[in-house]
Amino acid sequence: MTFKKDFLWGGATAASQHEGGYNLGGRGLSTFDAVTGGGYQIPRRITYMTEDGVCDESPVDSTMTGKIPLGAKGYIKKDVFYPSHEATDFYHHFKEDIALMAEMGFKCFRMSISWSRICPQGMYDLNEEGLQFYDDVFDELLKYGIEPIVTLNHFDMPLYLADHYDGWLSREVIDFFVFYAKIVLTRYKNKVKYWMTFNEMNVLSGWCQIGIHDNCPQNLYQAHHHIFVASAKVVMLGHEINPENKIGMMVSYTPSYPMTCLPEDVMEAIEFNRQKHFYMDIQVKGYYPEYQLKFFERKGIAIQMENDDLNIIKNGTVDYIGFSYYMSTVSSTDPNAEKTEGNQFIACKNPYLKTSDWGWTVDPLGLRIALNEIYDRYHIPMFIVENGLGAPDNIENDGTINDEYRIEYLRNHIQAMKDAVELDGVDLMGYTPWGCIDIVSAGTGEMKKRYGFIYVERYDDGSGDFSRKKKKSFQWYKKVIETNGDELD
Ligand code: BG6
Repeated sequence: MTFKKDFLWGGATAASQHEGGYNLGGRGLSTFDAVTGGGYQIPRRITYMTEDGVCDESPVDSTMTGKIPLGAKGYIKKDVFYPSHEATDFYHHFKEDIALMAEMGFKCFRMSISWSRICPQGMYDLNEEGLQFYDDVFDELLKYGIEPIVTLNHFDMPLYLADHYDGWLSREVIDFFVFYAKIVLTRYKNKVKYWMTFNEMNVLSGWCQIGIHDNCPQNLYQAHHHIFVASAKVVMLGHEINPENKIGMMVSYTPSYPMTCLPEDVMEAIEFNRQKHFYMDIQVKGYYPEYQLKFFERKGIAIQMENDDLNIIKNGTVDYIGFSYYMSTVSSTDPNAEKTEGNQFIACKNPYLKTSDWGWTVDPLGLRIALNEIYDRYHIPMFIVENGLGAPDNIENDGTINDEYRIEYLRNHIQAMKDAVELDGVDLMGYTPWGCIDIVSAGTGEMKKRYGFIYVERYDDGSGDFSRKKKKSFQWYKKVIETNGDELD
């Protein structure tokens, strides 16, 4: 058997893409509630109100970066479709969704808590109904023996904090976040053992994700510093509250290959890869790496720190590395190199590999490469907490959904992951494919781009009754879990 007996097979979603119920049960608004739908190459928009009472919109680019003028506040317009408001309605369907996950044999389910459901304004305000909602969800998971894996913050910022504090640019937000984390770590102490602080810390930028109005490099890195300190404090707190807790970090991991053996291309790839290593070095090794300090020096970026910050970062290192893997990319110094879409960035096209309908490079071996790169560098357990193929699905006349393309993608990636464990000896804890049930795409805000084993009747014009249907991949993945990854065909 390749995988450990207690290997965590499951699936993953996030509150702003799955949960819905945006104005129910005392929940406060989050930044994503003011971000409209979009589509492939149709940018999403942030709707906002300026200080002079003018209502306007600002585009969100392909890196999910949206900016709004200083002083402007997120605003919800009438007659505009905001996909996060109902998402795929986990709020009302969680029992049904969890029963389907149990039927597939899930050992775990990765989900996020919506910060503004617990603290409606993101500060020291508490919403008991929100806390009770997650109690009910965790109880339902545990009823089937499914381990909850909880991300404390997955791309959602309480709107009040974005509007009144300029999001993570304000140091005060560290205390607000630690307060929220302490509440949930304590409340769910006996129900949740696996936590992650922030989703994909290395791609957080702009108003939608971190509430900052102007994400110039100085502001962005200052906000990230506050996030590092908050995260490290929460890791320490989580260990104090329950020494059994396993608290991880999470990055978007896209390995980059040099386009040629030209040393300049190789150096370019090293620099591209540092954009994620920086975030991992801080959270696993516990210090700002030298290359990043030199980068700040060259760019004239001065991070304001308080006396104890570096100590907190040093002491709040994580137990495991969670990461998402969808694609690889290529680094080239040739300005004319062909480009393609990527997960929150525009990538160079790899001439040897195919791309998905959304332009993402499909590279199963890249997952084995990623697992090796990470393990060689950090030597702590790893958890693949996102992986999958975004594709349109068709319901046939007989009601079936034959998503062979998704099975093929996942099969090849699981094979690569097996090779990394079996042939390379990496320490892998689990695998939670992304959007195990259809959810709203984070990048494009559409329903058309589906990842699930379970189809949800919800469409981009806002129609659909949210009913759930099993796709062909449902039975396939069930078998994979049943055989602990032995049977992939
Ligand atoms: C990851 C995010 O970057 O990619 C998810 O953590 C996101 O929130 C996923 O949904 C896939 O991206 P997209 O744009 O296809 O939803």
